[in-house]
Amino acid sequence: MSYKVIAIDGPAGAGKSTIAKKLADVIGYTYIDSGAMYRAITLKILVKNIPLKETEKLISIAEETEIDFRDNSIYLDGIVVNDEIREERVSRNVSYVAAIPEIRKLMVDIQRKISRNKNVVMDGRDVGTVIFPQADVKFYITASVQERAARRYNELKQKGYEAEIQDIKSQIAKRDHIDSTRSDSPLRAADDAIIIDTTGKSIEEVLDEVISNI
Ligand code: DC
Repeated sequence: MSYKVIAIDGPAGAGKSTIAKKLADVIGYTYIDSGAMYRAITLKILVKNIPLKETEKLISIAEETEIDFRDNSIYLDGIVVNDEIREERVSRNVSYVAAIPEIRKLMVDIQRKISRNKNVVMDGRDVGTVIFPQADVKFYITASVQERAARRYNELKQKGYEAEIQDIKSQIAKRDHIDSTRSDSPLRAADDAIIIDTTGKSIEEVLDEVISNI
């Protein structure tokens, strides 16, 4: 029996993970958050206080780290770090760590390995281009920077955090820039990806659009 892969790529804050999780629920596939793995490595680097410019050290930390994603949880050396990887300091630094080719190779190996023997919906930046170029269906989900910043702002407000929309906007633009201009596996839509712009659309509308394309 051959297992299926649905790839969902796109820039930060476009709603990929919300859509990917809901889609996986609806069709009974396993959801895998590939970005959570880069976040987990980044968290470990920050906790250990390793300067980001010490690339060799970062690589050796990644080599000796155990990362797993199962049952919607991210495991860093056996410990669930679902909340910690969403911390602001991780979001600010993860793009630098994710640009290191040696670290990407380690993560891609894990991402392929944990997708074996099951049907998966995976979201990220290079799922349809690098991790699974043969994915059965590929989506590229995007939205304007303004809209992505506004969504993030509302999310933070709801959780009771103080936030400045301009700060969020510039942080998103910066991450987009780093993710899409890095030399290894830059963020881009696969040639055969279905592109969905979620600007002005509700989650339900986007989910319907995705399902109608499967
Ligand atoms: O999707 P996210 O915001 O949690 O991703 C965190 C970072 O990881 C993001 O800056 C880009 C990087 N990433 C990547 O390079 N490749 C992936 N497949 C997933 C995420």
